[in-house]
Amino acid sequence: MVGVARRRLSGLIVSTVSLRNIRSYARLDLDLRPGLVLVVGENGAGKTNLLESLHVGTQGFSPRTRADAQLVRFGERAGRIALKGARGETPLELELTVEVGAAKQGKINGAPLRAAEQLRTEVATLVFTPDRLAVVKGGPAVRRAYFDRALGRLAPARAQLSTDYAAALAQRNASLRRVAGGFSSRDALTPWTEQIAALGRQLVESRGEVLAALAPGFAERADELGLPAARMTYEGDPPTVDALEARLDRDLERGSTGLGPHLDDVVLTSSTRDLRSFGSQGEQRLTVLALLLAEAELIADRRGFPPLLLLDDVLSELDPNRRRVLAERVQQTGQTLVTATQASSLPVEPVQLLEVTPGLVRAA
Ligand SMILES: Nc1ncnc2c1ncn2[C@@H]1O[C@H](COP(=O)(O)OP(=O)(O)O)[C@@H](O)[C@H]1O
Ligand SMILES: [Mg+2]
Repeated sequence: MVGVARRRLSGLIVSTVSLRNIRSYARLDLDLRPGLVLVVGENGAGKTNLLESLHVGTQGFSPRTRADAQLVRFGERAGRIALKGARGETPLELELTVEVGAAKQGKINGAPLRAAEQLRTEVATLVFTPDRLAVVKGGPAVRRAYFDRALGRLAPARAQLSTDYAAALAQRNASLRRVAGGFSSRDALTPWTEQIAALGRQLVESRGEVLAALAPGFAERADELGLPAARMTYEGDPPTVDALEARLDRDLERGSTGLGPHLDDVVLTSSTRDLRSFGSQGEQRLTVLALLLAEAELIADRRGFPPLLLLDDVLSELDPNRRRVLAERVQQTGQTLVTATQASSLPVEPVQLLEVTPGLVRAA
């Protein structure tokens, strides 16, 4: 099923990072080791900036902002992120330039990419930031977006499906309003209704496949982290032409389509308890981590290379026991960068300890 792009998408070990005028870094040249790398520094030192640059450099976009100009160091016009490493046995060089007021430019092994975001079809990077807690405690839209992105990572051939569905939905809704306003006949809706049914069914099926693929690993990692019997349940049915037509009058009245995967949800539970409403902050964090670790394993299994893991501010709210479980788990995979304000937060020995002070990163 979801293993479509087996040949291309694969993990990456970054061996050198070089930043020019990116966030708080005017000039940074850093060697990285494979394995578990601990990044320590005081608040505001630049730890998140460093992890963000690795995300931008490997995926073509920032996990915290859509405004690329924010990546450029204050007072500068342009910045550059260059990474060297290997994907399996194959050496890989990635370069990304950001210019204020212009589109990002990405290169892979010297060859320009049409869009920097294409990087994500080349290498896989998974990130934890405290914002990700919204996947558990936020509304259904956040979870849909998260699982649709996971679909894109696990089956790049279907990465466009949710966008295509959203486009068809917008067209149908516009058409509903034209019909309601008397500007066109009901017949005009038929092609959009058919599209919604066809794309909607594919999207629901693909989401179902992603959940089924993640479920065993999710339950295992969650259990290991102390969340028993963790489950993901998809709520929603594939839309059909009949069901859409049956509620056409209501849809015309509201001017929007009231049925389909744009309204579905994924309910995350532990021992039948809904983690959205009843999980503690710590449990919600464990849930996000279990999802991330399950996906990392799936990517490693399918592509033969684990993704790059960026874990920002993950240790602070975990008790020492869970920190150890997490650290031991990520130690077994390719490369992980984890941030902390104190080296003692990590209960295992990292392969590399990086100390961050404003504008500077040095290996201890
Ligand atoms: N574009 C930028 N240019 C220069 N400095 C920046 C830029 N964006 C953020 N910073 C600075 O980076 C610092 C925050 O770094 P951050 O990586 O978030 O710290 P932390 O170590 O706490 O994760 C702040 O002092 C902020 O002013
Ligand atoms: Mg930070």
